Amino acid sequence: MAANSSAVWQKGRVVETLDVARGIRRIVIEPDAPVAAAPGTHVDVAVVVNGEREVRSYSVVETNDDGRRLALSVFRTPASRGGSIFMHGLVAGDDVAITQPMQNFPLRVGAPRYVILAGGIGVTAVLGMARQLARLGADYRFVYAGRSRDAMAYLNELLAEHGDRLEVHVDAEGTQLDVPALVSGLDLDTELYMCGPIRLMDAVRRSWQDFELSLPNLRYETFGNSGWFDPQEFVVRIPRLGIEALVPKDRSMLEALEAAGADMMFDCRKGECGLCEVDVLELRGDIDHRDVFYSERQQQASAKMCCCVSRVIAKNPLGSSPVLSGNGRAVVSIEVS
Ligand code: FES
Repeated sequence: MAANSSAVWQKGRVVETLDVARGIRRIVIEPDAPVAAAPGTHVDVAVVVNGEREVRSYSVVETNDDGRRLALSVFRTPASRGGSIFMHGLVAGDDVAITQPMQNFPLRVGAPRYVILAGGIGVTAVLGMARQLARLGADYRFVYAGRSRDAMAYLNELLAEHGDRLEVHVDAEGTQLDVPALVSGLDLDTELYMCGPIRLMDAVRRSWQDFELSLPNLRYETFGNSGWFDPQEFVVRIPRLGIEALVPKDRSMLEALEAAGADMMFDCRKGECGLCEVDVLELRGDIDHRDVFYSERQQQASAKMCCCVSRVIAKNPLGSSPVLSGNGRAVVSIEVS
């Protein structure tokens, strides 16, 4: 089933590339059919991975008013599935196929107070929101957390732009973000927009529930690829269809199943919509849930998983030591709808 059937594809020309932090490259593209991009929008980009066309989503970090120049920022992940390697290989003059900007993460204007929360490369999804709130004179805090300053894209620009409203937390400097402290200080009218690693977003979601804040006021976007554990190779089986596929570290379970000939349902490919849900029939290993679709209780039950992002690991370093197949790989048997 095709993803993002509403996507409008067009050609774009890369006009500028620049490293803006360790491992993060800014790529400016001029699309053929420009459309203004609101804060929170993203574009899909056709990338070539292992000789095959795949699609990756990137937030629009900056645009001019008429959308003639779109700046994306791409983190080259150590466990890249190939998309970020392709993007980092682009140079000025290259053509790329991109969609017009799409909105899954809109900023609601008019709230009494806002918190904009970015973890690492997640800043790319919320930076435009903070800029708009500053322009509107809104009451906002911009909380930006990262491992080290040299890996935090746009940090100096944001300090200059947001002044005291920007709070910076840097792990390497011992100023880690205290999530419960952040959330406990919020009131029922505050809207929080966040994007970052799954651990950060999970911690915020838990604190949000603990402090009984309004759930509709918590809004987020995921990367769809950050997990609790490093990716491991594992085996997925669909017994009814006689399918067995090896899922390499740099591919999602969904991609491996598609390559094996399974007709899969999906939409967001980012662990948000739940369309790619599969039933877990048998599990030798642990599930590394990387979605934001299921509740904590549903994730712990391990009866279902979002195969676009979630993976299976052979050994959970935090606890259990599951029974493994002979070659040490985890194995999951599933049923698809
Ligand atoms: S396709 Fe949306 S959660 Fe997997």
